[in-house]
Amino acid sequence: TRVAVLFGGPSAEHDVSCASALGVVRALTGDAYEPVAVGINRDGRFRLVPGDVLEKLRDQPPPPRAIDDRLEVTGADVELRAGAERGRAVFCAPGSAEVLAEVDVVFPVLHGPFGEDGVIQGVLESVGVPYVGCGIAASAVGMDKVAMKRAFLADGVPVTPHVWLDVAQWEAAAGNAEPLVAGLARPLFVKPANMGSSIGISRVADGDDLAAALDLAFRYDSAVIVEQGVTGREIECSVLGGLRPEASPVGEVTVANGWFDYEQKYFGDSDPMIVPAVLPEDVERRVRELSVAAFRAVGGWGLARVDFLYDEAAGRLYVNELNTMPGFTAHSMYPKVWAVAGLGYVQLVDRLVGLAFE
Ligand code: DAL
Ligand code: MG
Repeated sequence: TRVAVLFGGPSAEHDVSCASALGVVRALTGDAYEPVAVGINRDGRFRLVPGDVLEKLRDQPPPPRAIDDRLEVTGADVELRAGAERGRAVFCAPGSAEVLAEVDVVFPVLHGPFGEDGVIQGVLESVGVPYVGCGIAASAVGMDKVAMKRAFLADGVPVTPHVWLDVAQWEAAAGNAEPLVAGLARPLFVKPANMGSSIGISRVADGDDLAAALDLAFRYDSAVIVEQGVTGREIECSVLGGLRPEASPVGEVTVANGWFDYEQKYFGDSDPMIVPAVLPEDVERRVRELSVAAFRAVGGWGLARVDFLYDEAAGRLYVNELNTMPGFTAHSMYPKVWAVAGLGYVQLVDRLVGLAFE
């Protein structure tokens, strides 16, 4: 089976994708699979990574920092097209019929807008090639905070208190922000609905300017969500499967400065993950049930990582978000929690590719 690993992409998480993709390429080197790596640069151009570059990366010892162990977007420009045979895709030289690679399935190891929000999934649907992970709708819902919370609420999945506003409502309010968030306690988090990057997000505590935070968020999207901040433990759970998805053991992310940011996540010295998390059995069971419920609520397929806040004092769990293409390096939470259940990285990739054909 020839698997195109798509990676990079125009989102802020380009480098994370390059690291995730190398893990996937390494896992595809058995007899059953032949990986083809196709990088997408920051302006959205596709490049076919030469085979000898992949060979070299496979053989060299990994560098010490996880984020440095990654594929680079290099190689000849290519275009993605439908293959002559139904269900296959080809990568051609631009504007020419010369086929440089033909593949049976695509693994879009892409994070953020374009790769994780349904855009590339739509391209792959139009080409008619099977692909790993969630379809167009689930990907789009997973990237839009307003749509995601609605899907969760409709299926009884608990979310933190919030309101959402569109730009017309905000204009009609004429700068009078407080009535719009009546009932929400500070601190508030004001975010553009599309959560592709942390741009446009503000934390609004007592005395902070809520109207300014809303103005900022509306610069990036026509819908904005205002969430009540909940302090709690950050619990994560991985979901794998198709019609009968399964939830993994549970992990925890420990936060240094009250904020698990990009730096800590990928460049920090200490490993912020506790796998498996130490939780009462009933809480762990509930996390796993809610993870499957959240996956079903968005119409997920293949994989997702579901992120929770656990307010220990109040004994309450909230689903914070669902990531349809979670970080997928060998050090990432998604494979780590599956390893606890005895499912290794290579097997995981094999299962995911299999699910693309179901
Ligand atoms: N958005 C990053 C890749 C994650 O959720 O793991
Ligand atoms: Mg996310």
